[in-house]
Amino acid sequence: MNHPLLIAVDGPAASGKGTIARALAAHFGLPHMDTGMLYRSVALALLRWGGDPASEFEAVRACKAGLVPPNDPELRSEIVGEVASRISGFSAVRAALLGRQGDFAGQESGAVLDGRDTGTVIAPHANAKLFVTASVEIRARRRFDELVACGKSVHFEEVLIDIRARDERDSTRADAPLVMAEDAMLLDTGKLSVDGSIAAAIALVDARLA
Ligand code: C5P
Repeated sequence: MNHPLLIAVDGPAASGKGTIARALAAHFGLPHMDTGMLYRSVALALLRWGGDPASEFEAVRACKAGLVPPNDPELRSEIVGEVASRISGFSAVRAALLGRQGDFAGQESGAVLDGRDTGTVIAPHANAKLFVTASVEIRARRRFDELVACGKSVHFEEVLIDIRARDERDSTRADAPLVMAEDAMLLDTGKLSVDGSIAAAIALVDARLA
C-alpha cells in the first residue's frame, strides 16, 4: 500500500478512546497500540520493584524492565493508572517510550494508536485524528460503574476527584500535555452508547478519508 492508514485517538481518562480505537482497528483491519499500557507497564514494574514514583531516575530505570504482559490484571488497577499518570510527566520517561510508539506508527500496514499525545507528538502526520471526550461527571460515572462491576468498594466522589486530578496533571504537564490537535475531529461520547460511539467514530474517519 502506498499510503498506509494511520489513525490517532486521543482523549482524557474514561472517555471511551480505547474501546473506539480497538473498534476502528478491527473495522479498518489495522494493528492497534494502547500507548497508555506502556506507561502503565513502567508504573507497575516500578511499584513491584519498590521504586519511588516521584523519582525521574528510578522511573527511567523501570523503563528498562521488560514490558509486563498485557493480560496482567494489575495493569488496569487505579493505583497503577495513578502512578502511570505521575511518571508520564517525566520527559526522560516519555523519551524512553517514544521509539517503540514511533515504530508502531510507522509500520507499512498502517496502524491505530490511542493515548493522550498520539495525535500531537507520536503521529502528528496521522491521516485521521479523533479527540474523544465526555464531561468529567460522565467519565467518572463510567469508571465508577466499571469498578463496582469488578467487585471494588468505591465511592463515586473519590472516583470523580481522581479523574479530575488525572485530567489536571495530564493537561498541565510541560512535556506532551493532553491537548486536542488542531486538525483532530472532536467526538463527545457523553450521550452516545458504546455502539453509537463506534459508529460515529467510523463515520468521522470515513468522512476524513473521503
Ligand atoms: O490511558 P491510560 O489511563 O491507560 O493511561 C495511563 C496514564 O498514562 C495517563 O493518565 C497518562 O498520564 C499517561 N499516558 C500518557 N501518554 C500517552 C498514554 C498515556 O502520558 N500517550
